[in-house]
Amino acid sequence: MSQYPKAFIYDLDGVITDTAEFHFLAWKKLAEELGITIDRQFNEQLKGISRMESLERILALKPSLLALASDEKDRLANQKNSHYLELVETVNTDDILPGIEQLLQKNKEHQIKIALGSASNNAKNIVDKLGLAHYFDYIVDASQVKKGKPDPETFTTAADFLGVSYEECIGIEDAEAGVEAINGAMMFSVGVGSAEQLGKADYLVVDTSQLIFGEIINCYKEKRARNRE
Ligand code: BG6
Ligand code: MG
Repeated sequence: MSQYPKAFIYDLDGVITDTAEFHFLAWKKLAEELGITIDRQFNEQLKGISRMESLERILALKPSLLALASDEKDRLANQKNSHYLELVETVNTDDILPGIEQLLQKNKEHQIKIALGSASNNAKNIVDKLGLAHYFDYIVDASQVKKGKPDPETFTTAADFLGVSYEECIGIEDAEAGVEAINGAMMFSVGVGSAEQLGKADYLVVDTSQLIFGEIINCYKEKRARNRE
């Protein structure tokens, strides 16, 4: 069995580009329109979570709103998406986070397959704006999975399409729910962020500039060797 992994599966928002911040600002604006205040700490539990589930968690802060009719919830979710689309209008190739394109290039050099595993319905649009579509062998977005993160389905769907075993995949995530999904798929998890949220990742970096291919691979190989002992 080759020592290199067969695939890297990247989360989008907060890993490839800082759209995680735009999701937060869009939810904050919608919440304010509903008389609810959310802060960054609360937002940690929205990262990686689907649009509707995120809305439910915000509405739960004001119990009188939880009983809203489902078409009203749809309207609010669409409204959040309009706020988000306004914020991402100017996203372009300059918004790729540091270290990401170098890592994608290293994947290509080593014939490692590349997939996106995103909970966002806007994923393909954002990847196009960033000019990164040509790197990806496959893109999984919210429309392709029944169970969102923290369920492993986003990551296993990508690996199944690529025809690679889960143990030979590396997933990269900035969200607690995302790391849980990668671990649940029995893949090697790389967290981008703080140990407070992402302490369960197999390998943790503070930001994407620290995503060094050789170091990730070394840690992956060490874990594989330990698993074989
Ligand atoms: C995830 C983000 O990638 O996508 C979440 O981390 C977001 O914050 C989710 O809510 C759904 O995104 P969208 O674009 O379908 O509303
Ligand atoms: Mg993310």
